[in-house]
Amino acid sequence: MARTTLTRTVLAAASAAALFALGACSSDAGTATGGGGQSGGADDGVITLGFSQVGAESGWRAANTKSIQDTLTAENGFDLKFSDAQQKQENQIQAIRSYITQGVDVIAFSPVVETGWDAVLEEAKAAGIPVILTDRAVDSEDESLYESFIGSDFVKEGQMAGEWVVDQYDGEGYKVVELQGTTGAAPAIDRKEGFEAAIEGSDLEIIDSQTGNFTRAEGKTVMEGFLNKHDDIDLVYAHNDDMGLGAIEAIEAAGMTPGEDIKIVTVDAVKDGMQALVDGKINYIVECNPLLGPDLAEIAKKVVAGEEVEKRIVVEDQAFDQEAAKEALPTREY
Ligand code: AHR
Repeated sequence: MARTTLTRTVLAAASAAALFALGACSSDAGTATGGGGQSGGADDGVITLGFSQVGAESGWRAANTKSIQDTLTAENGFDLKFSDAQQKQENQIQAIRSYITQGVDVIAFSPVVETGWDAVLEEAKAAGIPVILTDRAVDSEDESLYESFIGSDFVKEGQMAGEWVVDQYDGEGYKVVELQGTTGAAPAIDRKEGFEAAIEGSDLEIIDSQTGNFTRAEGKTVMEGFLNKHDDIDLVYAHNDDMGLGAIEAIEAAGMTPGEDIKIVTVDAVKDGMQALVDGKINYIVECNPLLGPDLAEIAKKVVAGEEVEKRIVVEDQAFDQEAAKEALPTREY
């Protein structure tokens, strides 16, 4: 298991789709959309799992990909088929359709945006292939379209960031700019919501907010725009470390000192972000744990075995100020 403490919340009933998948792994598999058989199937002891990753947009994503690839190995009983969607929903839908055609035992994916998944998930369900969501949620009325969702509580992450900011700076009339994640993505929607709820009633004001698409380059460009437009920015709230690191570059290029002239709060706590926190360039980071591979492996094995799985597995996150980062960085896994 990952070092994550899992808050096992809602217990799902035994998975009908898992039973479908088991059935499909045996005799009549072999049609283009029949689950399981073509790639070996779980009846030979190997679970063929098709994983559609969002992309390679951030340090967090790199750590998440590594965790999945390091865990879903042949030694651990998996035949992992992995694809990178380059942050495009159409690429993810194409990958999922390809996994359905190949007849994998399980499909897992981290949805780049929340909406627009019902049709392809219904195709997977019709083919008897169970789906596991990792990292990000889908916004679907029909929860039977997936077996389990493993990932952090992004609203809580935003709240933790906002609560720290209020605790530190309320009463000083701080002007805040926000670097949002990918438009329509669960972490962008939820981290915004949580932060706004936490600062409500304080004298902190969000004076501008734009997407930086979770990348360092776009975070820098958007921050340059903010600095050209506003001369009264006190704090940057970035939905991930990479955009915060881009903002640092823009602030330094404008002749100011990040972490002092303009405070920075981010989410993720990957090594580069933690180093910037230790260096005093970032002021606070809320963690988002990317090590989801072990939990995915465990849930996939249970689903294929027809065992009960939890519908929602919440990965617990912590938060770091500069002092805490100094202690944590030397032994940080990612
Ligand atoms: O969905 C998790 C988010 O996606 C991470 O916080 C961000 O860095 C990544 O791109």
